[in-house]
Amino acid sequence: MNILMVGDVYGEPGRQAVAKLVPRLRQEHAIDFCVVNIENAAAGFGVTAPIAKQAFESGADVLTSGNHIWDKREIVEYITKENLLLRPANFPAGTPGVGHVTVKTGPHKIAVLNLMGRVFMLPLDCPFRKADEIIPEISKETPIVLVDMHCEATSESIAMGWYLDGRVSAVVGTHRHVQTADERVLPGGTAYITDLGLTGPTDGVIGVDRDQIIQRFLNQMPIRFETAKGPAALQGAVIVVEPETGRATSIRRLRVPA
Ligand code: FE2
Repeated sequence: MNILMVGDVYGEPGRQAVAKLVPRLRQEHAIDFCVVNIENAAAGFGVTAPIAKQAFESGADVLTSGNHIWDKREIVEYITKENLLLRPANFPAGTPGVGHVTVKTGPHKIAVLNLMGRVFMLPLDCPFRKADEIIPEISKETPIVLVDMHCEATSESIAMGWYLDGRVSAVVGTHRHVQTADERVLPGGTAYITDLGLTGPTDGVIGVDRDQIIQRFLNQMPIRFETAKGPAALQGAVIVVEPETGRATSIRRLRVPA
């Protein structure tokens, strides 16, 4: 089973990259299932219902998110009804939406779990203990479990990879918008990468107009961020999983110009 996981979609250039490239990549790699992190798709800040719908139409099966999920207030109503758009599972109890979902794909079921780190981020519930709580439940339904670990600290992603090795099919990191070159299948059969990278403009600073960010560093004054212009790329990974066991057999990084 071939799984495409796409790193943080940033603004209009990222959305266009998804619309153009996800259908092509699905063909080229005979993709059975596609997960896209969508939390920066609305000009860097959150996601709206039309943007989520467009991503599903482009071939995403499940959308994940992170710290920016609530930036567009109207998403609260949408996420309450649409459980294919996830928010991190370790938000406090009572938060709208769900943090994991199990989807039927052909003869198989695939579960996706969205977690968020706490180092230099919101003080959410412990993502490690939350994974311990949820994974046994979803593993009753399917051995194929994909985890998006939305993190600032690389150490927290790496620790989660080792913590879940042998218990899930993949742990992929998102949020940093810089792809890491550490993809591997861990000894227990879990595909791992610290960060999938950015799907969006390549010539900005993690998605934002570079002149604005340089000014911000020069004078430390607040500035309204705008999405960088210029070329864009899709970044992510293709993961091959044995459907019967849920074990990953390979992970390959992708960086495709849009
Ligand atoms: Fe984020």
